[in-house]
Amino acid sequence: MAPARVSLPPSTGLTDQQKQDWSNNGYLLIPDALSPEQVTQLLSESQRLLNEFDLSNHPMTRFSTGEKSSHVGDDYFLTSGDQIRFFFEEEAFSPTTGQLTKPKEKAINKIGHYLHELNPSFKSISINSTNAAIARDLGFHDPRVLQSMVICKQPEIGGAVPSHQDSVFLYTDPPSAVGFWYALEDCTVDNGCLSFAPGSHRRAAIRKRFVRREDGKGTEFVENDKRKWPEGLKGVPEGSSEEEEEEEEFVLGEVKAGTLVLIHGNILHKSERNLSQKGRMIYTFHVIEGEHDYDQRNWLQPPEEGFTALNKATSR
Ligand code: FE2
Repeated sequence: MAPARVSLPPSTGLTDQQKQDWSNNGYLLIPDALSPEQVTQLLSESQRLLNEFDLSNHPMTRFSTGEKSSHVGDDYFLTSGDQIRFFFEEEAFSPTTGQLTKPKEKAINKIGHYLHELNPSFKSISINSTNAAIARDLGFHDPRVLQSMVICKQPEIGGAVPSHQDSVFLYTDPPSAVGFWYALEDCTVDNGCLSFAPGSHRRAAIRKRFVRREDGKGTEFVENDKRKWPEGLKGVPEGSSEEEEEEEEFVLGEVKAGTLVLIHGNILHKSERNLSQKGRMIYTFHVIEGEHDYDQRNWLQPPEEGFTALNKATSR
């Protein structure tokens, strides 16, 4: 069952119904979290970044979530945690010549991963008292924003993202990652909206992790030998018949621009390709529990100043 769509009272966190939906489904759609003016401003800021970035000394790093991709392991990606960097769509290059087939501003898959500190527009919609109140209601004690991205999902070439769980990529022990995902354009089945397997955050353990290789050569997926469920969430026991026996059923998460989508770190979610003429620009950042262990194996390592405290926003 899809969660109810109830608007968020400003700065007061989640309603009881929203908390219940979150607990049942593992995701939550909150329409009108951004005003139309904020959406317009963030879209034009995204466009400005795309127009202004310099191609001349770019390593042409592409972004792929496939398990066999090795190029995401290069330095440009691994050292992007405290930078604003640009990653290309796989499909933006000619398979024969290797040259870009689109203008650069139409060829970028995503911009990341430190917009929430370095870009004032994205910082102000990330680190604020409204989001601190939401994090509190999701059970965070010391919520830390550890990465942020504009995901472009470009017309005609926007790549699919296969079913995955965010805590595989942003692991704390125990798992705690939550995605805050803002639609900057209408997201529909035509331009590759998200879809979710409702309740799968209670069925799907974090069995793998995406980590830096020990030999220093990029990244890899490894078995997770630490805790597989968030604190207080009793998932199905390993080997039980409920455990991912059947194929999960996915529900479309079509949303209007301005909607905030909250995504549990254990929930299975995905999106299809964008073959339409419409863009599907979104902004997302992730929060982890600062009191949990974040080890050095994670692909993303904290900047010198540490991950950004969301709670500092509450005193504003
Ligand atoms: Fe995700």
